[in-house]
Amino acid sequence: MARIGLLTGGGDCPGLNPVIRAVVRKGIDTYGHEIFGFRKGWKGVLENDATELTRENTSGILHKGGTILGTSRTNVYKIEDGEARVLTSLKERGIDVLIPIGGDDTLGVARKLFAAGFPTVGVPKTIDNDLNATDFTFGFQTAVQIATEAIDRLHSTAESHDRVIVCEVMGRDAGWIATWAGLAGGADVILVPERPFDVEEVCEHIRHRVATTGRTFAIVVVAEGATRADGGGATTADEATDSFGHARLGGIAFELEKEIEARTRLESRATVLGHIQRGGSPVAYDRVLGTRFGVAAIDAASSGQYGVMTALRGTKIELVPLDEALKEPKLLDPELYETAQVFFG
Ligand code: F6P
Repeated sequence: MARIGLLTGGGDCPGLNPVIRAVVRKGIDTYGHEIFGFRKGWKGVLENDATELTRENTSGILHKGGTILGTSRTNVYKIEDGEARVLTSLKERGIDVLIPIGGDDTLGVARKLFAAGFPTVGVPKTIDNDLNATDFTFGFQTAVQIATEAIDRLHSTAESHDRVIVCEVMGRDAGWIATWAGLAGGADVILVPERPFDVEEVCEHIRHRVATTGRTFAIVVVAEGATRADGGGATTADEATDSFGHARLGGIAFELEKEIEARTRLESRATVLGHIQRGGSPVAYDRVLGTRFGVAAIDAASSGQYGVMTALRGTKIELVPLDEALKEPKLLDPELYETAQVFFG
């Protein structure tokens, strides 16, 4: 029997509650652990703000979006004495092992705490699907489903009005959502951070589509982190950066809307899906993946396997060192993008 801490950090993601439920269920029923959930990510650990998680208060959450624990983008290492404060909180609360559920920023803090001697087991989370060492992260399939449904809807209005609609989806460093949703939704062009684009080439695809099919509308899917081949970096929503140094991206679709209209003479519109992609109920795949990760995390925490992250490799759940997971983002598979390119224009 041990006392396990749990937290959810960074952007929320459909599938977080299934992880929490699985850790609590197996942790209590199989191992007889006590489980404490820290509120609002690392902020809750810094402030020793936690609540005991039980079968009662974690039942009925499997299908719910968001996270019952709340989340924040708090960087422990940007706060004075952050690490010491975290270690003091964990000691005061008697936590033996901490399970942080998060993306590269949250798990980066977990790795440093592990290096400082505290037992941690990470669970990967990002709708962007760009965490290394795992084939998929939960939340991604839900985001793809939402984006695909949006693209389907954009098709009918684009067709009625003879318009080009540029649909901006999430994806800071990697174009996984754009490519999957673009493929599933039949996008005519997909722009991703891994392949800086030339707007004239985008317009050429659109002109080619009009010339070869007679269809005078088109759908362009663009990842928020897409950049231009002639430089300039990603389009940002404002000047601010978060505590991990990330700028808030957004707005590339509005730039493209104007440029495409000017060059093709087809009326154009931009739609930014934004946080709709992260909200609401997880699809079945993400509930199952989150549940499998939660069970694997509590098993690892109970058998002394620390400094690791749960990962999906093929069809199996495995444990990988946090170092491997965090060494670089997992960029889009070039073969997948080449498949999508077959349908451009
Ligand atoms: O990291 C996941 C993500 O959804 C990115 O795709 C996006 O850039 C970012 O989070 C948005 O974060 P916020 O919720 O802080 O606006």
